[in-house]
Amino acid sequence: MVRITHSFGVACLLLSACSAPSGNAASNPADSDTSFEGVGAEGTDVVEHGRRLSAILNCQGCHGPDLQGRPFPSGWPEPSGIWASNISLTVPDMDNSDLEALIRFGDHPDDRELWFMPSSSFQHLSKPDMEALIGFLRTIKPGGESTPHPEPTEYLLERMGLGNLLMTREKIERHNASPLPSYGEELSLGRYIVEATCTECHGGDLRGLPPFAPPMTVAGAYDDKAFLELLETGRAIGDRDIGVMGQVGSRQMSNLTPNERHNVVRYIRAWVEDEMNP
Ligand code: HEC
Ligand code: HEC
Repeated sequence: MVRITHSFGVACLLLSACSAPSGNAASNPADSDTSFEGVGAEGTDVVEHGRRLSAILNCQGCHGPDLQGRPFPSGWPEPSGIWASNISLTVPDMDNSDLEALIRFGDHPDDRELWFMPSSSFQHLSKPDMEALIGFLRTIKPGGESTPHPEPTEYLLERMGLGNLLMTREKIERHNASPLPSYGEELSLGRYIVEATCTECHGGDLRGLPPFAPPMTVAGAYDDKAFLELLETGRAIGDRDIGVMGQVGSRQMSNLTPNERHNVVRYIRAWVEDEMNP
């Protein structure tokens, strides 16, 4: 498979603006032309589309089912001192452009560095998808207790840098250092979804974030049917326990349309082939 181009690189060349993304979301040269299916189509409810995106992008997985906050990472034997905040209480104080800059670039309106929020994967969301996501966030009912400011524990600091435990800015820098290859218009929907989702754990270049998540070449073991099933139900081949990846299928990717899942599989296939036969 011939590597056609890296779209971010092309945007850079055309606009001769290769600086790292800044807080100026409105002029982000890298907003995608591609979107999740249905946005802008007649009959699509924008808030419902935003709600679907929030499930695919796992906002609830980290911030809790009602987005009222929970410790991050959840399920650790000792606390990290970081909370995926109660955004039902903080979002109402942010205007839409603050919110967009935070989600895309990790720029907090308080001017502080964000911990772990995976903006790296969200930075190229298309305008219409971003608007729908923010539209949905505007409908959340404020509730629960406000969550504490980040106060990293020793336990966390010893583990920083392992896998995906990076400050948001560093996550973005690493992600942008090796953009996902583009295999042309036909695979652009798959590339768009893979970038917004899989890269959070498998790395911006899909080459894995050891020791947390393996390189995407693991997908080579799946035929199309088993791969689609993994993405719809979280079931692995051989019914093995694959931990967090099982939930990625059952809770996140189950919200993709069948055609979106099909496009994810096609993009990953092209990527694996390219990776194995450079
Ligand atoms: C992998 C876990 C994770 C995912 C997924 C995630 N977040 Fe976050 N997010 C965090 C953490 C952790 C923080 C707190 C960072 C800090 O306080 O420094 C945060 C902070 C935020 C803040 C700032 C809140 C404040 O209190 O000022 C907003 C807004 C936000 N996230 C929105 C979202 C949205 C919208 C999504 C889905 C598109 C999302 N997050 C997905 C982990 C996550
Ligand atoms: C929240 C983190 C996370 C996200 C997001 C994620 N993965 Fe994974 N994935 C993992 C981890 C961790 C493993 C290793 C699981 C194990 O072997 O225990 C894994 C394993 C896999 C495997 C191998 C499963 C097996 O049978 O061993 C495939 C295939 C895969 N991921 C595909 C994807 C695709 C495609 C996406 C995006 C649509 C994606 N992953 C998104 C964390 C993630």
